[in-house]
Amino acid sequence: MASELIYRGAGHDDEAPYHSPSGASSSKRITKKWASNVASCKAIRYLLGEQRILFVLVGIAIASVFFFLVSSSSSSPSSSSSSVLFRTANNFRSDMEDFERYRSVGIEGSRGGFVGKIPLGLKRKMKRVVVTGGAGFVGSHLVDRLMERGDSVIVVDNFFTGRKDNVKHHFGNPRFEMIRHDVVEPILLEVDQIYHLACPASPVHYKFNPVKTIKTNVVGTLNMLGLAKRIGARFLLTSTSEVYGDPLQHPQVETYWGNVNPIGVRSCYDEGKRTAETLAMDYHRGANVEVRIARIFNTYGPRMCIDDGRVVSNFVAQALRKEPMTVYGDGKQTRSFQYVSDLVDGLMRLMEGEDVGPFNLGNPGEFTMLELAQVVKETIDPNAKIIFKLNTADDPHKRKPDITKAKEILGWEPAVTLREGLPLMISDFRRRIFGEYEKSGSTTTTTTTTKSS
Ligand SMILES: NC(=O)c1ccc[n+]([C@@H]2O[C@H](COP(=O)([O-])OP(=O)(O)OC[C@H]3O[C@@H](n4cnc5c(N)ncnc54)[C@H](O)[C@@H]3O)[C@@H](O)[C@H]2O)c1
Repeated sequence: MASELIYRGAGHDDEAPYHSPSGASSSKRITKKWASNVASCKAIRYLLGEQRILFVLVGIAIASVFFFLVSSSSSSPSSSSSSVLFRTANNFRSDMEDFERYRSVGIEGSRGGFVGKIPLGLKRKMKRVVVTGGAGFVGSHLVDRLMERGDSVIVVDNFFTGRKDNVKHHFGNPRFEMIRHDVVEPILLEVDQIYHLACPASPVHYKFNPVKTIKTNVVGTLNMLGLAKRIGARFLLTSTSEVYGDPLQHPQVETYWGNVNPIGVRSCYDEGKRTAETLAMDYHRGANVEVRIARIFNTYGPRMCIDDGRVVSNFVAQALRKEPMTVYGDGKQTRSFQYVSDLVDGLMRLMEGEDVGPFNLGNPGEFTMLELAQVVKETIDPNAKIIFKLNTADDPHKRKPDITKAKEILGWEPAVTLREGLPLMISDFRRRIFGEYEKSGSTTTTTTTTKSS
């Protein structure tokens, strides 16, 4: 269109040589002005013709409406992309701060279970967690808390001492899976965290097949550490206060190296756990695996095996059955007793924290066996009798954790006293023992149905 107008203008310029030479320049200017006026008139006429002006106006109106809508949908006064990005990053940061605040409230409120209040519109990242030994006593309580927190949990267990009953209330939940598997064999799973608990914990069970116990501790731990390395998962080892053996230092601090018999009947467990700790540290130093080590002291609570030979379960089961309570040795050896919910709280804090450990997790309240028998008597049957038997080999004389490190770094300490926790365990044992009696009249009570704590 423009080239057409120019061309026509040029056509008028071509007429100039017909004017006289004296008035040539002024007449040329007049001619040019006239030509440009004619061109403008033609342009206006062109615009007005065939409703072109109408199309131009409609186009301007559409563009105005579009820009008005875009700017009003954003609350930001600026529409530049960099300011939008900056605002989004700020919102995200404040959302995350809110989330962390809510999450920590959840953990603080964990005595009665994780509250897990998440701000609207922001989903907590679900973790995929494997718990080896998750059908056992401690493992099943840990699984409960992880499920409560909203994680996706895989239990790996060979059911040597664990029972499906302990976790059956999660069956059918899409976030829960259970695999019958022996950790002595390798396994490949995709998870974020590995809680490695698989190992019989009571002397009756770990002495039953000592070679298998040490294999579980060494080969089983190697396999799970290998998995952690391969998939980049964080790994938590449940070690034990038994690594201190019959301690010469009291109470036991994490820096104490212990006094362990390497060739005794308990060595499959004690030395097995010491080797497991060594493996964990070597994978950490050598292969950058994120490891966490917990040294657990005596723990009690619902779902313990009833006849597992551990002192609390022994006393409670005997007193409930109206049998005399068996005290080994003179009963002056001491132990500390931690309620299972306190332990689970400590394990989860350790896993989520930044410190490798090892950390003592136990209740520093120290009781002699005779004092414990007295508390059980008061709680179950004031007329219960006590009998004394010869002590077993390598039974430590004293055991009491120093938990200063866990207090300072994990902000953890036990909250449940023996007098508060024991009745909870007793009511679970009572149901299982007398439930079994009612059903079969049998005195064997190790595989009865359990209640959730
Ligand atoms: N309960 C305590 O007082 C205490 C004290 C110190 C350390 N610990 C440690 O805590 C962990 C859990 O102890 P717990 O009291 O729940 O014992 P538990 O015997 O109730 O649970 C152990 C679980 O591991 C499973 N398991 C054993 N060997 C396995 C294998 N080869 N492959 C797969 N699964 C296997 C068992 O079937 C069971 O479910 C253990 O590692 C134990 O050494 C416990």
